[in-house]
Amino acid sequence: MLDELQAMEREALAAVRAAADGDVLGAVEATWIGRKGRITGILRSVGTLPAEQRGPVGQAANLARRAVDEALSARRTELLAGAEARLADTEWVDATLPPPAARAGVRRTGGTIHPITALTREIEDVFLSMGFDTLDGPWVEDDFHNFGALNMPADHPARDMQDTYWLSDGNLLRTHTSPVQVRAMESGAPPIRAVCLGRVFRHEELDATHENTFHQIEGFYVDRGVSVGHMLYVLRTLLREVLDDDVEVRLRPSYFPFVEPGFEMDVTFRGKWMELLGCGMVHPYVLEQGGIDPTVFSGFAFGLGIDRLVMLKHGVEDLRHFMDGDLRFLRQFGGGLEG
Ligand code: PHE
Repeated sequence: MLDELQAMEREALAAVRAAADGDVLGAVEATWIGRKGRITGILRSVGTLPAEQRGPVGQAANLARRAVDEALSARRTELLAGAEARLADTEWVDATLPPPAARAGVRRTGGTIHPITALTREIEDVFLSMGFDTLDGPWVEDDFHNFGALNMPADHPARDMQDTYWLSDGNLLRTHTSPVQVRAMESGAPPIRAVCLGRVFRHEELDATHENTFHQIEGFYVDRGVSVGHMLYVLRTLLREVLDDDVEVRLRPSYFPFVEPGFEMDVTFRGKWMELLGCGMVHPYVLEQGGIDPTVFSGFAFGLGIDRLVMLKHGVEDLRHFMDGDLRFLRQFGGGLEG
Protein backbone atom coordinates (compact mmCIF):
# COMPACT_ATOMS: atom_id res chain seq x y z
CA MET A 1 0.00 0.00 0.00
CA LEU A 2 2.75 2.41 0.94
CA ASP A 3 4.66 1.61 -2.25
CA GLU A 4 1.54 2.15 -4.26
CA LEU A 5 1.09 5.57 -2.63
CA GLN A 6 4.64 6.56 -3.43
CA ALA A 7 4.16 5.57 -7.06
CA MET A 8 0.96 7.61 -7.21
CA GLU A 9 2.68 10.66 -5.76
CA ARG A 10 5.50 10.41 -8.31
CA GLU A 11 3.04 10.07 -11.16
CA ALA A 12 0.95 13.01 -9.92
CA LEU A 13 3.97 15.29 -9.51
CA ALA A 14 5.17 14.43 -13.01
CA ALA A 15 1.72 15.31 -14.39
CA VAL A 16 1.83 18.65 -12.57
CA ARG A 17 5.22 19.48 -14.00
CA ALA A 18 4.07 18.55 -17.50
CA ALA A 19 0.90 20.62 -17.36
CA ALA A 20 1.15 23.54 -19.80
CA ASP A 21 -1.88 25.57 -18.76
CA GLY A 22 -4.47 26.11 -16.09
CA ASP A 23 -7.03 23.76 -17.64
CA VAL A 24 -4.64 20.82 -17.62
CA LEU A 25 -3.65 21.65 -14.03
CA GLY A 26 -7.29 21.59 -13.04
CA ALA A 27 -7.70 18.14 -14.58
CA VAL A 28 -4.59 16.86 -12.80
CA GLU A 29 -5.92 18.19 -9.51
CA ALA A 30 -9.25 16.39 -10.04
CA THR A 31 -7.56 13.12 -10.96
CA TRP A 32 -5.39 12.96 -7.84
CA ILE A 33 -6.63 15.06 -5.00
CA GLY A 34 -10.10 16.17 -6.06
CA ARG A 35 -13.26 14.84 -4.41
CA LYS A 36 -13.07 11.66 -6.48
CA GLY A 37 -9.28 11.73 -6.86
CA ARG A 38 -7.16 8.62 -6.46
CA ILE A 39 -5.18 9.83 -3.43
CA THR A 40 -8.39 11.08 -1.86
CA GLY A 41 -9.82 7.59 -2.41
CA ILE A 42 -7.03 6.02 -0.41
CA LEU A 43 -7.49 8.53 2.40
CA ARG A 44 -11.18 7.64 2.53
CA SER A 45 -10.48 3.92 2.69
CA VAL A 46 -8.05 4.18 5.60
CA GLY A 47 -10.83 3.30 8.04
CA THR A 48 -11.35 -0.08 6.39
CA LEU A 49 -7.70 -1.15 6.79
CA PRO A 50 -6.42 -3.45 9.49
CA ALA A 51 -5.73 -1.40 12.62
CA GLU A 52 -1.95 -1.53 12.44
CA GLN A 53 -1.87 -0.15 8.85
CA ARG A 54 -4.21 2.79 9.47
CA GLY A 55 -1.60 5.09 11.05
CA PRO A 56 1.21 4.76 8.52
CA VAL A 57 -1.05 4.67 5.44
CA GLY A 58 -3.12 7.62 6.62
CA GLN A 59 0.00 9.64 7.30
CA ALA A 60 1.60 8.76 3.96
CA ALA A 61 -1.58 9.54 2.04
CA ASN A 62 -1.88 12.92 3.77
CA LEU A 63 1.72 13.77 2.95
CA ALA A 64 1.23 12.74 -0.66
CA ARG A 65 -1.87 14.86 -0.92
CA ARG A 66 -0.09 17.88 0.53
CA ALA A 67 2.90 17.43 -1.78
CA VAL A 68 0.67 17.33 -4.84
CA ASP A 69 -1.31 20.33 -3.63
CA GLU A 70 1.84 22.38 -3.09
CA ALA A 71 3.23 21.37 -6.48
CA LEU A 72 -0.04 22.46 -8.09
CA SER A 73 0.09 25.97 -6.65
CA ALA A 74 3.77 26.35 -7.46
CA ARG A 75 3.12 25.34 -11.04
CA ARG A 76 0.17 27.77 -11.26
CA THR A 77 2.35 30.67 -10.16
CA GLU A 78 5.00 29.63 -12.63
CA LEU A 79 2.55 29.47 -15.55
CA LEU A 80 1.12 32.89 -14.69
CA ALA A 81 4.54 34.50 -14.56
CA GLY A 82 5.36 32.94 -17.92
CA ALA A 83 2.16 34.31 -19.48
CA GLU A 84 2.94 37.80 -18.22
CA ALA A 85 6.45 37.65 -19.53
CA ARG A 86 5.15 36.61 -22.94
CA LEU A 87 2.63 39.49 -22.93
CA ALA A 88 5.50 41.93 -23.02
CA ASP A 89 6.59 40.29 -26.27
CA THR A 90 3.25 39.69 -27.93
CA GLU A 91 1.21 42.73 -26.92
CA TRP A 92 3.61 45.63 -26.87
CA VAL A 93 2.61 48.83 -28.57
CA ASP A 94 4.71 51.48 -30.16
CA ALA A 95 2.68 54.57 -29.47
CA THR A 96 4.73 56.60 -31.91
CA LEU A 97 3.62 54.59 -34.96
CA PRO A 98 0.67 55.77 -37.06
CA PRO A 99 -2.45 53.65 -36.45
CA PRO A 100 -2.68 50.45 -38.57
CA ALA A 101 -5.45 51.73 -40.85
CA ALA A 102 -3.54 54.91 -41.61
CA ARG A 103 -0.43 52.88 -42.35
CA ALA A 104 -2.38 50.81 -44.82
CA GLY A 105 -3.60 54.00 -46.47
CA VAL A 106 -7.18 53.57 -45.27
CA ARG A 107 -9.06 56.76 -44.45
CA ARG A 108 -10.03 56.92 -40.80
CA THR A 109 -12.97 58.88 -39.53
CA GLY A 110 -11.82 61.10 -36.71
CA GLY A 111 -14.02 63.08 -34.38
CA THR A 112 -15.99 66.02 -35.70
CA ILE A 113 -16.78 69.35 -34.14
CA HIS A 114 -20.40 69.38 -33.01
CA PRO A 115 -22.42 71.69 -35.29
CA ILE A 116 -23.46 73.84 -32.34
CA THR A 117 -19.88 74.25 -31.18
CA ALA A 118 -18.79 75.02 -34.74
CA LEU A 119 -21.39 77.75 -35.18
CA THR A 120 -20.68 79.11 -31.70
CA ARG A 121 -17.04 79.56 -32.60
CA GLU A 122 -17.93 81.14 -35.92
CA ILE A 123 -20.24 83.64 -34.21
CA GLU A 124 -17.65 84.46 -31.56
CA ASP A 125 -15.18 85.27 -34.33
CA VAL A 126 -17.64 87.63 -36.01
CA PHE A 127 -18.19 89.50 -32.74
CA LEU A 128 -14.53 89.58 -31.79
CA SER A 129 -13.85 91.23 -35.14
CA MET A 130 -16.42 93.92 -34.25
CA GLY A 131 -14.67 94.63 -30.95
CA PHE A 132 -16.98 92.67 -28.63
CA ASP A 133 -15.78 90.72 -25.60
CA THR A 134 -17.03 87.21 -24.88
CA LEU A 135 -18.42 86.58 -21.41
CA ASP A 136 -19.57 83.58 -19.44
CA GLY A 137 -22.24 83.39 -16.80
CA PRO A 138 -23.37 80.74 -14.32
CA TRP A 139 -25.93 78.09 -15.33
CA VAL A 140 -27.36 78.20 -11.84
CA GLU A 141 -28.75 81.69 -11.45
CA ASP A 142 -30.61 83.55 -8.76
CA ASP A 143 -34.05 85.04 -9.18
CA PHE A 144 -32.70 88.59 -9.24
CA HIS A 145 -30.38 88.15 -12.23
CA ASN A 146 -32.64 85.86 -14.26
CA PHE A 147 -35.88 87.79 -13.64
CA GLY A 148 -35.96 90.63 -11.10
CA ALA A 149 -33.24 92.85 -12.53
CA LEU A 150 -34.68 92.19 -15.99
CA ASN A 151 -37.89 93.94 -15.05
CA MET A 152 -39.80 90.79 -14.16
CA PRO A 153 -40.76 91.09 -10.49
CA ALA A 154 -42.15 88.07 -8.64
CA ASP A 155 -45.70 88.22 -9.98
CA HIS A 156 -44.86 89.33 -13.52
CA PRO A 157 -46.85 87.35 -16.11
CA ALA A 158 -43.89 87.29 -18.52
CA ARG A 159 -42.22 84.78 -16.22
CA ASP A 160 -44.67 82.23 -17.57
CA MET A 161 -43.13 82.60 -21.04
CA GLN A 162 -40.06 80.81 -19.72
CA ASP A 163 -40.97 77.64 -17.83
CA THR A 164 -38.37 77.42 -15.17
CA TYR A 165 -36.47 74.63 -13.46
CA TRP A 166 -36.42 75.79 -9.85
CA LEU A 167 -33.85 74.35 -7.47
CA SER A 168 -34.68 73.48 -3.89
CA ASP A 169 -32.53 76.35 -2.55
CA GLY A 170 -34.62 78.94 -4.42
CA ASN A 171 -32.13 79.35 -7.26
CA LEU A 172 -32.90 78.23 -10.79
CA LEU A 173 -31.32 77.03 -14.03
CA ARG A 174 -31.05 80.13 -16.17
CA THR A 175 -33.87 80.28 -18.68
CA HIS A 176 -32.00 82.63 -20.99
CA THR A 177 -28.60 84.29 -21.32
CA SER A 178 -29.98 87.75 -20.48
CA PRO A 179 -28.80 87.58 -16.82
CA VAL A 180 -25.29 87.97 -18.22
CA GLN A 181 -26.25 91.50 -19.31
CA VAL A 182 -26.94 92.39 -15.71
CA ARG A 183 -23.75 90.77 -14.45
CA ALA A 184 -21.69 92.60 -17.08
CA MET A 185 -23.20 95.95 -16.12
CA GLU A 186 -22.68 95.29 -12.42
CA SER A 187 -19.02 94.54 -12.88
CA GLY A 188 -18.11 97.02 -15.59
CA ALA A 189 -18.80 100.52 -16.84
CA PRO A 190 -19.81 101.66 -20.34
CA PRO A 191 -18.78 101.26 -23.03
CA ILE A 192 -19.71 97.59 -22.65
CA ARG A 193 -19.71 95.46 -25.78
CA ALA A 194 -20.08 91.77 -25.11
CA VAL A 195 -21.57 88.51 -26.25
CA CYS A 196 -22.30 85.47 -24.16
CA LEU A 197 -22.87 82.11 -25.82
CA GLY A 198 -24.08 79.33 -23.64
CA ARG A 199 -26.58 76.81 -22.40
CA VAL A 200 -30.02 77.68 -21.16
CA PHE A 201 -32.70 75.46 -19.66
CA ARG A 202 -36.48 75.43 -19.86
CA HIS A 203 -39.05 73.05 -18.51
CA GLU A 204 -40.48 72.32 -21.96
CA GLU A 205 -42.50 69.54 -23.49
CA LEU A 206 -40.00 68.07 -25.94
CA ASP A 207 -40.79 67.98 -29.63
CA ALA A 208 -39.07 68.65 -32.93
CA THR A 209 -38.69 72.35 -32.18
CA HIS A 210 -38.43 72.34 -28.37
CA GLU A 211 -35.65 71.02 -26.19
CA ASN A 212 -35.28 71.56 -22.46
CA THR A 213 -31.60 72.38 -22.93
CA PHE A 214 -30.56 74.67 -25.72
CA HIS A 215 -28.06 77.38 -26.54
CA GLN A 216 -28.39 81.11 -26.82
CA ILE A 217 -26.25 84.01 -27.85
CA GLU A 218 -26.80 87.15 -25.88
CA GLY A 219 -25.28 90.29 -27.31
CA PHE A 220 -25.37 93.79 -25.88
CA TYR A 221 -23.79 97.14 -26.33
CA VAL A 222 -24.15 99.94 -23.78
CA ASP A 223 -22.64 103.37 -24.36
CA ARG A 224 -23.60 106.98 -25.00
CA GLY A 225 -25.90 107.38 -27.99
CA VAL A 226 -26.42 103.71 -28.89
CA SER A 227 -29.46 103.37 -31.14
CA VAL A 228 -31.60 100.85 -32.99
CA GLY A 229 -29.47 101.66 -36.04
CA HIS A 230 -26.38 100.23 -34.34
CA MET A 231 -28.33 97.13 -33.40
CA LEU A 232 -29.51 96.60 -36.96
CA TYR A 233 -26.01 96.98 -38.33
CA VAL A 234 -24.52 94.47 -35.90
CA LEU A 235 -27.26 91.88 -36.40
CA ARG A 236 -27.23 92.20 -40.15
CA THR A 237 -23.46 91.76 -40.17
CA LEU A 238 -23.76 88.66 -38.02
CA LEU A 239 -26.43 87.04 -40.17
CA ARG A 240 -24.65 87.82 -43.42
CA GLU A 241 -21.49 86.23 -42.08
CA VAL A 242 -23.04 83.05 -40.76
CA LEU A 243 -25.96 82.51 -43.15
CA ASP A 244 -25.74 84.17 -46.48
CA ASP A 245 -24.42 87.36 -48.08
CA ASP A 246 -27.77 88.56 -49.31
CA VAL A 247 -29.90 87.63 -46.33
CA GLU A 248 -32.62 90.25 -45.68
CA VAL A 249 -33.75 91.18 -42.20
CA ARG A 250 -36.85 92.90 -40.83
CA LEU A 251 -37.92 94.02 -37.38
CA ARG A 252 -41.39 93.45 -35.96
CA PRO A 253 -42.50 95.13 -32.74
CA SER A 254 -42.60 92.64 -29.89
CA TYR A 255 -42.61 92.52 -26.13
CA PHE A 256 -39.86 91.55 -23.73
CA PRO A 257 -39.97 93.18 -20.28
CA PHE A 258 -36.26 94.03 -20.38
CA VAL A 259 -36.22 96.01 -23.63
CA GLU A 260 -38.11 99.08 -24.78
CA PRO A 261 -38.84 99.23 -27.64
CA GLY A 262 -38.68 95.49 -28.21
CA PHE A 263 -38.59 93.61 -31.50
CA GLU A 264 -38.40 90.29 -33.11
CA MET A 265 -36.12 89.99 -36.06
CA ASP A 266 -36.98 87.86 -39.07
CA VAL A 267 -34.59 86.80 -41.82
CA THR A 268 -35.18 85.64 -45.33
CA PHE A 269 -33.60 82.34 -45.84
CA ARG A 270 -34.05 80.16 -48.92
CA GLY A 271 -36.83 82.50 -50.02
CA LYS A 272 -38.87 82.47 -46.80
CA TRP A 273 -39.21 84.82 -43.85
CA MET A 274 -38.17 83.11 -40.63
CA GLU A 275 -38.51 84.36 -37.09
CA LEU A 276 -35.05 84.30 -35.57
CA LEU A 277 -34.37 86.38 -32.50
CA GLY A 278 -35.56 88.84 -29.88
CA CYS A 279 -33.96 92.23 -29.48
CA GLY A 280 -34.47 95.82 -28.49
CA MET A 281 -33.15 98.78 -26.55
CA VAL A 282 -32.15 97.88 -23.00
CA HIS A 283 -34.96 99.04 -20.68
CA PRO A 284 -33.97 102.02 -18.46
CA TYR A 285 -34.97 99.98 -15.40
CA VAL A 286 -32.47 97.25 -16.38
CA LEU A 287 -29.70 99.81 -16.85
CA GLU A 288 -30.48 101.16 -13.38
CA GLN A 289 -30.38 97.68 -11.85
CA GLY A 290 -26.95 97.26 -13.43
CA GLY A 291 -25.79 100.54 -11.87
CA ILE A 292 -25.82 102.54 -15.11
CA ASP A 293 -27.46 105.95 -15.45
CA PRO A 294 -30.18 105.64 -18.13
CA THR A 295 -30.26 109.42 -18.67
CA VAL A 296 -26.68 109.27 -19.91
CA PHE A 297 -26.33 105.85 -21.50
CA SER A 298 -28.38 103.64 -23.74
CA GLY A 299 -27.88 100.18 -25.13
CA PHE A 300 -29.22 97.47 -27.30
CA ALA A 301 -29.50 93.76 -26.55
CA PHE A 302 -30.50 90.68 -28.44
CA GLY A 303 -30.94 87.01 -27.71
CA LEU A 304 -30.84 84.33 -30.34
CA GLY A 305 -31.17 80.55 -30.22
CA ILE A 306 -28.08 78.95 -31.72
CA ASP A 307 -29.85 75.62 -32.20
CA ARG A 308 -32.47 77.28 -34.41
CA LEU A 309 -29.76 78.99 -36.39
CA VAL A 310 -27.96 75.69 -37.00
CA MET A 311 -31.27 74.17 -38.07
CA LEU A 312 -31.74 76.97 -40.58
CA LYS A 313 -28.20 76.84 -41.85
CA HIS A 314 -28.00 73.08 -42.32
CA GLY A 315 -31.65 72.27 -42.94
CA VAL A 316 -31.93 70.11 -39.80
CA GLU A 317 -35.56 69.19 -39.24
CA ASP A 318 -35.53 68.06 -35.61
CA LEU A 319 -33.92 69.93 -32.73
CA ARG A 320 -33.58 66.78 -30.66
CA HIS A 321 -30.80 65.49 -32.94
CA PHE A 322 -28.42 68.00 -31.39
CA MET A 323 -28.42 66.44 -27.94
CA ASP A 324 -28.94 62.73 -28.59
CA GLY A 325 -25.38 62.01 -29.74
CA ASP A 326 -26.30 59.86 -32.76
CA LEU A 327 -23.09 59.47 -34.79
CA ARG A 328 -24.98 59.10 -38.07
CA PHE A 329 -26.27 62.62 -37.52
CA LEU A 330 -23.01 64.09 -36.26
CA ARG A 331 -20.88 62.63 -39.07
CA GLN A 332 -22.74 64.74 -41.60
CA PHE A 333 -21.01 67.83 -40.30
CA GLY A 334 -17.50 67.95 -41.68
CA GLY A 335 -15.27 65.03 -42.46
CA GLY A 336 -13.61 64.94 -39.09
CA LEU A 337 -10.31 66.12 -37.79
CA GLU A 338 -8.27 63.63 -39.72
CA GLY A 339 -8.38 63.18 -43.48
N1 PHE B 1 -33.93 86.63 -23.44
C1 PHE B 1 -34.94 86.60 -24.47
C2 PHE B 1 -35.45 85.17 -24.61
O1 PHE B 1 -34.78 84.27 -24.22
C3 PHE B 1 -34.39 87.07 -25.79
C4 PHE B 1 -34.01 88.51 -25.77
C5 PHE B 1 -32.76 88.92 -25.38
C6 PHE B 1 -34.91 89.48 -26.19
C7 PHE B 1 -32.41 90.27 -25.39
C8 PHE B 1 -34.58 90.80 -26.22
C9 PHE B 1 -33.34 91.18 -25.83
O2 PHE B 1 -36.51 84.95 -25.11
